[in-house]
Amino acid sequence: MTGKRTLTIIKPGAVERNLIGPIITKINDAGFVIKALKYTKLKKEQARAFYAVHKDKPFYNDLVKFMSSAPIVVAIIEKENAVEDFRKLIGATDPLEAEEGTIRKIFAESKTHNAIHGSDSDENAIKESDFFFSRIERFSF
Ligand code: CMP
Repeated sequence: MTGKRTLTIIKPGAVERNLIGPIITKINDAGFVIKALKYTKLKKEQARAFYAVHKDKPFYNDLVKFMSSAPIVVAIIEKENAVEDFRKLIGATDPLEAEEGTIRKIFAESKTHNAIHGSDSDENAIKESDFFFSRIERFSF
């Protein structure tokens, strides 16, 4: 899937605020096609594992608490140059720094409650897709 796919998570705050539809519309309008889709909820230990790379950061505990606080929507999406183009579409981590029109600028509440996740490299897109989806789910379409 190198280059063409990335993983996204619509985070708890956005799901709770009924923003699944508007956010998926933005993703589709930008030319991404959904290849796998899941509504689920992370247990605290699962959120810890997913964000293990940040375990020494001061925001780690808040991030884990938030990501396991309510349901999320996880998707594998496809487009040429997926990782880079998707990160442009979602905008900077902090919505105050995100460009106008980006998903985080429109929908995020704060740096931690920032509405949406996008993988930061092709390698992590594969790892993160493995984390959430089985081989059958990943390779059927
Ligand atoms: P995400 O793209 O899911 O990857 C890691 C998350 O950590 C990031 O979105 C933010 O929600 C959170 N994060 C990153 N940096 C900070 C920070 N300085 N303060 C609070 N939360 C942060």
